[in-house]
Amino acid sequence: MLSYRHSFHAGNFADVLKHTVQTLIIEALKQKPKSFVYIDTHAGAGKYSLFSKYSSKNAEYKDGIEKIWQAQNPPQEMVTYLKIIKDLNPDGQLKIYPGSPLVAHKLMSKHNRLELSELHPTDHAILEQEFNHLRSINVVQKDGYKHLNAILPPIQRRGLILIDPPYELKEEYNDVIKNIKKAHKLFATGIYAIWYPVVSRHNTERFCNQFKNSGIKNILRLELNIKEDSDEHGMTGTGMIIINPPWKLAQQMQQVLPWLVEKLKQDNYANYKLELLTKE
Ligand SMILES: C[S@@+](CC[C@H](N)C(=O)[O-])C[C@H]1O[C@@H](n2cnc3c(N)ncnc32)[C@H](O)[C@@H]1O
Repeated sequence: MLSYRHSFHAGNFADVLKHTVQTLIIEALKQKPKSFVYIDTHAGAGKYSLFSKYSSKNAEYKDGIEKIWQAQNPPQEMVTYLKIIKDLNPDGQLKIYPGSPLVAHKLMSKHNRLELSELHPTDHAILEQEFNHLRSINVVQKDGYKHLNAILPPIQRRGLILIDPPYELKEEYNDVIKNIKKAHKLFATGIYAIWYPVVSRHNTERFCNQFKNSGIKNILRLELNIKEDSDEHGMTGTGMIIINPPWKLAQQMQQVLPWLVEKLKQDNYANYKLELLTKE
C-alpha cells in the first residue's frame, strides 16, 4: 500500500528540520578530502512545486519554510540550507522546494555517490528523470531497506544514510529499528539519520527508548515541537535520531533549535529536545 505522497507535505516544519540536519551532516563529511556515499532509503520525488494541486492543498510549507527562508540574520548553521532554497527560487517567490535527494545533490560533488530508493511508481519516475542520467547517482524502485542491506558496507567506508519513512502503518516504527540494527552490523561507522514524527508522545518515547536500548552507541536525539503534545491533532513535533553524529552537530543544533522554535512555534508550549540517547 503506497498512498503517501510527500508533495502534500513538502517544505513543512518537519522538512525544515530534516533538511537542515542533512545539510549539516553532509557539510561535515565534506571536511575530509575522502569520498563518501549518501544513501536515501525513502527518497520521494526529489523536487516539489509548491503551486501543484498537492502542495497547495494544505499548503504546509506556509507553516514551515515560508516563515524562515528570507529571515534576516538566521543562525550561521542554517545559511547553507537556506541558500539552497533561495537558489531554487531566484525571483524571490517561493515556488520550488527540494526533496532530500536534491539537497544532497546540491551539496555533493560528482566524486561522491548517491543511492536513492523510492517505491512509489509516480515519484520514482520523477526521481529517475531528474537524476538517473548522472553517473554518480543510482535511482532504484526497490524497498529502501532491502537496497540498503544489499549495498552495505559502501566501498568508501564513509557516508550518510537518511531513513525517512512515511510511518503510515504502525509497524513502520519496528521496521526502522529492526533494519537499523541489521544495517549497523554491516556498517557500524556510518552516520544514520532517522526522521520521526511526534504524533503521540507515548509512541515517540517508546520509539526513542528502543534506540536507547538497542546496544548501538553514540546516538543523538533532536526534536522540534511547534505546539503542545496532543494525541488528537496530528503532528505536533518532529525529530531526528542520529547515530554517529559528526562531532559538531549537537553544538550546531544548540544554535538552530531555539531559533526554529521561536520562528515556527504555534503556541506557548513549543520546545525542543537535544539529548544524547547513548554515549560513544
Ligand atoms: C517522507 S517521504 C520521503 C521524503 C524525502 N526523503 C525528502 O525528504 O524529500 C517517504 C517516501 O518513502 C516512499 N516509500 C514508502 N515505503 C518505502 C519503502 N519501503 N522503500 C522505499 N520507498 C518507500 C514513499 O513513497 C514516499 O515517497
